[in-house]
Amino acid sequence: MTTETTTKDTAPGASVPGERVLDARGVTMRFGGLTAVRGVDLTVNSGEIVGLIGPNGAGKTTFFNCLTGLYVPTEGEVRYKGNVLPPKSFKVTAAGIARTFQNIRLFANMTVLENVLVGRHTRTKEGFWSAVLRGPGFHRAEAASRARAMELLEFVGLDSKAEHLARNLPYGEQRKLEIARALASEPGLLLLDEPTAGMNPQETRATEELVFAIRDMGIAVLVIEHDMRFIFNLCDRVAVLVQGEKLIEGDSATVQGDERVVAAYLGEPFEGAPGAAEAAEVAEAEATAAEADATASKADATAAGATTADAEAATADADADTTTDAAPGKENDR
Ligand SMILES: Nc1ncnc2c1ncn2[C@@H]1O[C@H](COP(=O)(O)OP(=O)(O)OP(=O)(O)O)[C@@H](O)[C@H]1O
Ligand SMILES: [Mg+2]
Repeated sequence: MTTETTTKDTAPGASVPGERVLDARGVTMRFGGLTAVRGVDLTVNSGEIVGLIGPNGAGKTTFFNCLTGLYVPTEGEVRYKGNVLPPKSFKVTAAGIARTFQNIRLFANMTVLENVLVGRHTRTKEGFWSAVLRGPGFHRAEAASRARAMELLEFVGLDSKAEHLARNLPYGEQRKLEIARALASEPGLLLLDEPTAGMNPQETRATEELVFAIRDMGIAVLVIEHDMRFIFNLCDRVAVLVQGEKLIEGDSATVQGDERVVAAYLGEPFEGAPGAAEAAEVAEAEATAAEADATASKADATAAGATTADAEAATADADADTTTDAAPGKENDR
């Protein structure tokens, strides 16, 4: 990626400095008996990068889904620049909120450029007849869209791969392409769900720079990530979700120093230390398990000749089916 870019300094969807871009109040999402998100308040102001962290299953993605019209919250209200959001994804995008997904969602068999052009459709004014008749207005609009899409690809460092199929990009570049596609809708707020999942440390640092550059274009950012170094380097404020509830919100130092946050990530210690009897029981169970392991690995070694060939064949099959959705992730992301 490059931070020296031809992209306009200020994005078209950019906000007035200090404006409240996102105002989520009392957002609750229930699935039958399970409350995945419970009474969460969160604001994002223009010029801010806000982080959302929490252990697996804390409700972070569900909260994003409530913000973007994928789910209609059971309770609560979400406003974007003062207006209550309509409960439909495409209307939320048109209003000015764009997102990327924990499980990458690209059109695998389209080119990199085409994927970004798809992201522009909420911003193209040319209507149905214009597209059918392909008059001068249509060609002008199409040329402008392509130019903007190329500009965004340059911004994320993928312009040289514009004609490649999305499915052939390495994983880290697919995540960047998702960001370019989200930016193509000219948002005022960008939601990133684990943008560095599966990236190496170098790619993660580059993504950090990319997010700063997006903020500098006037787009506010709300980002979910498990990489704490990334979050605490990047964010002006961090909110912590635990079991669907907001535990704490504050600047990096405040959140990092909070004992409840450490406990939420590392788990609470059991009540009362184990006694000598329990300790002896555990030691005995571990010794038995180690013995069983040793026996099993002998059996494995004998069978290895046959199973290696099978495993190779299975890997080849999996490769043939590769989609862009290579990340391990959650069903609720779809
Ligand atoms: N559509 C759904 N139906 C039922 N339960 C759901 C649905 N979506 C999410 N959940 C549940 O809600 C809870 C929160 O899940 P969510 O994916 O939001 O967590 P998360 O904080 O994003 O976790 P991770 O860090 O692993 O991505 C989980 O218990 C999950 O199983
Ligand atoms: Mg998630």
